[in-house]
Amino acid sequence: MSTDEQRQVSDEEHDPFAEFDKAAGAGVVRDPYPVFAEMRRECPVHSGPFGDRFGLPQPESMMSSVGYYTALSFDAVQQVLLDGETFSSSGYAPTVGMLMGHSILEMDEPEHGRYRALIQQAFGLKVMEHWEVAIVAPIVNGLIDRFAERGRAELVRELTLPFPIQVIAAMLGLPAADLPRFHRWAVELISIMVDIGRGFEASQKLREYFAGILTERRAAPRDDLISVLAQAELDGQRLTDEEIFAFLRLLLPAGAETTYRSSSTLLFGLLTRPEQLAALRADRTLMKRAIEEGLRWEPPLTGIARLAMRDCEVAGVHIPAGAVVSVCLGSANHDETRWERPDEFDMFRESKPHLAFAYGAHTCLGMHLARMETRVMMNALLDRLPNLRLDPSAEDVHITGLGFRAPRALPVVFDAAGAP
Ligand code: HEM
Repeated sequence: MSTDEQRQVSDEEHDPFAEFDKAAGAGVVRDPYPVFAEMRRECPVHSGPFGDRFGLPQPESMMSSVGYYTALSFDAVQQVLLDGETFSSSGYAPTVGMLMGHSILEMDEPEHGRYRALIQQAFGLKVMEHWEVAIVAPIVNGLIDRFAERGRAELVRELTLPFPIQVIAAMLGLPAADLPRFHRWAVELISIMVDIGRGFEASQKLREYFAGILTERRAAPRDDLISVLAQAELDGQRLTDEEIFAFLRLLLPAGAETTYRSSSTLLFGLLTRPEQLAALRADRTLMKRAIEEGLRWEPPLTGIARLAMRDCEVAGVHIPAGAVVSVCLGSANHDETRWERPDEFDMFRESKPHLAFAYGAHTCLGMHLARMETRVMMNALLDRLPNLRLDPSAEDVHITGLGFRAPRALPVVFDAAGAP
């Protein structure tokens, strides 16, 4: 058998969704919050690696010979994220950048601000209203159509995992026939932690694929994000092809993986607290609070990273130039000096801004989109699946993961309904 044939067979046997689950560190850490609280009590900024507290090796990519620090309290996290001059995003270049290309994530000012202003044109409020009706609602309802009459479903595999990737594909204006392979590359790109070779291969394939579409859109612009990026202009400057590819690749982990996790986690929070689910079903004005509390309680991405550009101090801890500063959004969102009973999901609590979307110049560009997607999904489920509840025969449904968190599965039952 030739190498190509072997590759094809192994491609057919390869289940990117199982890999994705492994990549998420599922099954390794069930609840990191007591450990974060213990570390916060010791000091708002932890010095040195902490993987051993979870029985895990510290990822090498995160190490620096100069030192490794973790901002844990709400104030320490805010201080680091607000000060982009001292705490640079360029530390992503040798890690994430290898895979995505030189993307907005690893840029510092003034390059970052210029680039962001160009991209932001494609994420305005008007565009969001259009996407809600034209893209998000039809995708969510199309997926629910497949199981609405069955009376049971596994909501992660059948809804929360596929829908944000389909939304991005539609925003980019990709042909429907390309969706299966786009979905596969997207998941392989996201699964870089378990299979680095496949991750790089997917990155390359996506670049070739996007290059073809970009050429087409340059020749004949359409009403989609790639056309907008191809034409976006600020002070006479346009994005280069490589900048566009880097952004498009980043959209998959930034936009699909996070939203899949946050929508699954919100569902888990509500399904395991039927009284809050019932309250939300009865009064949809609570939706915003429910979504924000889900993001505060279990941010899908518990940590991001910065690089100290000079000697500095955070919460009384000296940090030397060149140190990696991990920023623990999960810990900040559970800071007991800001929220009472921080480990509880309670959508009725007093709402205060949280840090799930980070803070400062790199605050998530897609946060309005993510919130809208979650709202549309939740409303569709509540409208269409009466008596939605966790499958009583399902065992031990729970959230898992350290850096990225979500439930692995959400088996549910409901009163079978027809299409809307
Ligand atoms: C609940 C869902 C989401 C969460 C929790 C989330 C979280 C974050 C966080 C924490 C950052 C900051 C990263 C850093 O500075 O190191 C970020 C940046 C970013 N996010 Fe999101 N995100 C979500 C959804 C989305 C969506 C739907 C999109 C777009 C389709 C998106 C696009 C981006 C982009 C482009 C950046 C980089 C912004 C910059 O560097 O200026 N995100 N996100």
